[in-house]
Amino acid sequence: MKPEVCSNSISVLDNVEAIRMIDKGNMGLMISSFPTLLKEAVTLSRNLALPREYRNIKEVVICGMGGSAIGGELFKDLSQSIIPLRVSVIRDYDLPRHVDESSLVVAVSYSGNTEETLESFKQAYERGSRMIAIASNGLLEKACSKLKIPFLGVPSGYTPRSALPLLFIPLLKVAEEIGFPLVGEGELAKAHRLVEEYNYKLTPENPLSRNPAKQLAARLNEKLPIIYSMGHLKSVALRYKDQINENAKMRAMCDQLPEANHNEVEAWEKIDFKELLHVVFIDSRFKNPYLAESINQLISAIEKEGVGLSMVKPLGETMLEEMLSAIILGDWVSYYLAILRGVDPAPVRLISDLKKKHDEKTRYSEKFEEWLGKSAKSN
Ligand code: PA5
Repeated sequence: MKPEVCSNSISVLDNVEAIRMIDKGNMGLMISSFPTLLKEAVTLSRNLALPREYRNIKEVVICGMGGSAIGGELFKDLSQSIIPLRVSVIRDYDLPRHVDESSLVVAVSYSGNTEETLESFKQAYERGSRMIAIASNGLLEKACSKLKIPFLGVPSGYTPRSALPLLFIPLLKVAEEIGFPLVGEGELAKAHRLVEEYNYKLTPENPLSRNPAKQLAARLNEKLPIIYSMGHLKSVALRYKDQINENAKMRAMCDQLPEANHNEVEAWEKIDFKELLHVVFIDSRFKNPYLAESINQLISAIEKEGVGLSMVKPLGETMLEEMLSAIILGDWVSYYLAILRGVDPAPVRLISDLKKKHDEKTRYSEKFEEWLGKSAKSN
């Protein structure tokens, strides 16, 4: 069998024809759709209305996995300084003990069929939590219809990770519906314009010499990316890691400040394989002033060791703009890394195989349907 991964020279990044040939699954088109999906998500979210009793809750719990969980992480980071409620993201089967009838549980699964998300949905229903689900299809949609749970359907046809705007923006509407408007439509429209404009700069048609995403990918080529972030951008560093994993099929690490200064920093003392590492710092204008100083210290430690370092300065004037502009840059970086490795970015063969084999063994979807049948009867 011919190995799929080959190492291309950097010049491939300016060869639009070659890029198209590698990108058989059209991930480039999906990443380019990010601004359009943002707009679509705002329109879709207008249809979301939650019952009045959803306002009287003690916490918001967002359940999802992988590409469907990252919107929850962004929401958590963005809401932290605004919403006086606990917001948590559960990427697991079991809900924590504190989740009960006064929790609002939001189940998010792009396919609507992810086992862990269905299981936490089921547990939330059994605990009498207030609930809503977001999916493009699948058992989650079916369960909401049978159990009369508010449901927001989003368009299908994307990979879960490229559907991020469709899974994230509705969470802002959920916040508004429970009495905590985080971001108004004016701010969203402004963020959309910024991302749309920035996206043009990052597409394959824009050459390496003027394309920040190609330039960062070129620096990360054949390296192990170590991504640092802080505050409301913690979720963004995770997005970089996940996108590099899934699009470029490449390993990446992420960590957050100031916590990294209390453990991870020690790994800069005696570095193995230093020529293989490249650090990406995602900076923010909203960082705590004390943090600025510790960042400088960490940067000096890294530079002293001669390890490659790139700073990402997100665009925009608001936290939301910073998040979205950094994400669109990172999504394109992961895409160009895939191109440099000669890897088709869209398919996630191992994830799909794992899920399929797992369901064959556990028969979880059958069991969920059985539970649904019984619960719908007694509803
Ligand atoms: O990006 C991916 O394909 C995965 O991370 C999926 O998002 C994850 O497996 C969960 O699936 P879904 O998003 O359909 O719930």
